[in-house]
Amino acid sequence: MALYALGDLHLSFQSDKSMDIFGSVWKRHERKIEKYVNRIVKPDDTLVLTGDHSWGRKLPECREDLAFIERLPGRKILLRGNHDMFWDAKKTGRLNEEYKNRLFFLQNNFAVYEDYALVGTKGFTFEGPFYLDRWGNITGWDEKKEEQAEKLVAREMDRLRESFRQAADAGYRKFIMFLHYPPTNILEETSPFTEIAEEYGVSAVVYSHCHGESRFGDSIRGEFHGINYMLVSGDFLNFRPALVLP
Ligand SMILES: [Fe+2]
Ligand SMILES: [Fe+2]
Repeated sequence: MALYALGDLHLSFQSDKSMDIFGSVWKRHERKIEKYVNRIVKPDDTLVLTGDHSWGRKLPECREDLAFIERLPGRKILLRGNHDMFWDAKKTGRLNEEYKNRLFFLQNNFAVYEDYALVGTKGFTFEGPFYLDRWGNITGWDEKKEEQAEKLVAREMDRLRESFRQAADAGYRKFIMFLHYPPTNILEETSPFTEIAEEYGVSAVVYSHCHGESRFGDSIRGEFHGINYMLVSGDFLNFRPALVLP
């Protein structure tokens, strides 16, 4: 048994949204996903997909993408990404009902892997715009947008807290925390997300959302305050699932 994670599949079996324009790593990327996930993940493993699953806007436009995910080996747990329009935040229960024993949608709930609770939410990060001087140094940013971002961070923190609370109430003391957005923005070294990760002593924080060479370093990666921060964006991993726990 092993726990793997991979993010940002950006599938589009029912929509006209090829990712090929974003560079060679995205060329026929759904084939790579199929190949590598089948090679790496075994039927009794768990695979957490950290959001941005489908370009479809409504659930009927995502059915084939979700069916593709369903056919991948292992138990699949899905996190909500910013592009997952099909997933109404208030209707997670309904999705879990519909996909019972096929896919698990992680939000305001938790999943279990051995003696670990898998907790998570979409998260949020302020992404600018930032203003640069001619040498590329940040000299300021859009403060209105930053204010809005703080509200979204607070809302996501409520959802994450709920996930932790349920897991702790059920007796779990070991946690892996999943986010779609990176835990900090490019200006921060800590955030409410890193604070709650430390409060609960999580073993790892796993996130994705960052695309392209220039964005892979937007947040914490590797060991920080005793926690392993893992970026699992599909294009960062060339669509090979990352091992979170053996
Ligand atoms: Fe994405
Ligand atoms: Fe995203």
